[in-house]
Amino acid sequence: MSTSLNPNQADPNAHNGESNDMPSMGLRPGRRVFIETYGCQMNLADSELMGGILGTRGYTAAPNHDEADVILINTCAVRERAEERVFGRLSHLLQYKHARPEVILGVTGCMAERLREDITERAPYVDLVVGPDAYRRLPELIEESQEVEADPVVDVKLDRDETYAGLSPRRQAGISGWVTVQRGCDKFCTFCIVPFVRGRERGVAPSEILRQCRDLAERGYKEVTLLGQTVNSYRHEDTDFADLLEMLVDVDGLERIRFTSPYPTDFTPKLIETMAAHKKICNYLHLPLQSGSDRMLEQMKRLYTSGEFMELVERIRENIPDIAMSTDIIVGFPGESDEDYAQTVEMLEKIRFDFAYLFKYSERDGTFAARKLEDDIDEEVKHQRLAALIERQEEISSEIFAAQVGKTKEVMVVGESKRDANDLCGRTDDFKMTVFPRPEGISPAPGELVDVRVDDATSHTLLGQMVTE
Ligand code: SAH
Ligand code: F3S
Repeated sequence: MSTSLNPNQADPNAHNGESNDMPSMGLRPGRRVFIETYGCQMNLADSELMGGILGTRGYTAAPNHDEADVILINTCAVRERAEERVFGRLSHLLQYKHARPEVILGVTGCMAERLREDITERAPYVDLVVGPDAYRRLPELIEESQEVEADPVVDVKLDRDETYAGLSPRRQAGISGWVTVQRGCDKFCTFCIVPFVRGRERGVAPSEILRQCRDLAERGYKEVTLLGQTVNSYRHEDTDFADLLEMLVDVDGLERIRFTSPYPTDFTPKLIETMAAHKKICNYLHLPLQSGSDRMLEQMKRLYTSGEFMELVERIRENIPDIAMSTDIIVGFPGESDEDYAQTVEMLEKIRFDFAYLFKYSERDGTFAARKLEDDIDEEVKHQRLAALIERQEEISSEIFAAQVGKTKEVMVVGESKRDANDLCGRTDDFKMTVFPRPEGISPAPGELVDVRVDDATSHTLLGQMVTE
């Protein structure tokens, strides 16, 4: 159930043929870029941002590596020993440089800073290393890299003011888009590398967020997911996260608003009220727990106890009945005893999340845990704890999904089901994937809201019939 490194390609040229907002700054027109993205939604959103920045300078999207003049790998450093994978990937990409030496190969994102030192030694053919706060300069850095023969051109400086205001990400046509509302993180959980590689927390100006949401709606998008590492601690001048949501429910055309990920102690009563008050704000919450043991939570420097987390869940459920919830959990954190682990299982059973992203602890260089706590849980024990937790969660998910049978749910159509062209798929308001046969004579378009009567379920999917009368 833990996520792996899935390359998802962002398309910086999704709106081919549109006029550019900014004049071409003298770069050779018609250059093509291919961006390979690893990691979370925020990284995918950043790839769209880079596509937008390069798009204003005349770059278009290459359909594949072979046809690209510039290949960027947008990296993730949050879990596992991702560095090794990126080096593996880079040596694979070297073939494109062998074929066409003029190809520019760049590394961007969370691993850029970490890799900078190793790269000259281990992958000297890399031309460009660009951190998450330097994307504005990407076109210039690419130019520079063509002029400098030897070392890679590097810009990994973190910038506590950079929110990429005024820029427009390039998005593929679609129904569901992301808008980054907050960058960086100030929480410094002891296991987490994010504050080191993405810098201090910054809220994007509400006017910028509004502009991007309106832009999405004008392009036919129906759903937006607001992104931030602790999204509900969002603040910009006098605007807090609840105010921001309140503003966005008025954007015509957007039918659904989601956000990820809120931090438990930043959940205000005002935010719960705002969520409860608006149908457009979806009945689904991803609320990372990390551990059910107070001792572990303290060692992780999470700012709540298991009891406080439980109270928050209860408060949210009282105010927003039927809200679905998911979570993140880490097993095998330094010092985790059988008893600590048992408390995590117990919390999972008490709360009954609809689904969960479950991870084995992996030490990240430079974090407090890496410096001060010994990674002392045996790999085999970590593995067993993870496997048992996945199994338990699967049972809970199956029960929760099965309990939907008989209900009629509003589903936003995504498109044809991947498994069977006769079926359509979509998501419920509470984020459950739903598959139903294409009704005869009508073909609801992607983005349309339809009612589906659920008549069966697996642990991850609802199956049903569209209600047509
Ligand atoms: N604030 C973000 C956290 C980003 S990291 C959010 O809540 O989305 C996403 C998840 O990765 C974390 O919640 C945590 O469960 C997991 N994670 C982060 N660092 C980790 C590490 N060193 N080992 C294992 N899992 C980790
Ligand atoms: Fe990481 Fe904790 Fe922030 S998990 S992103 S330091 S809230």
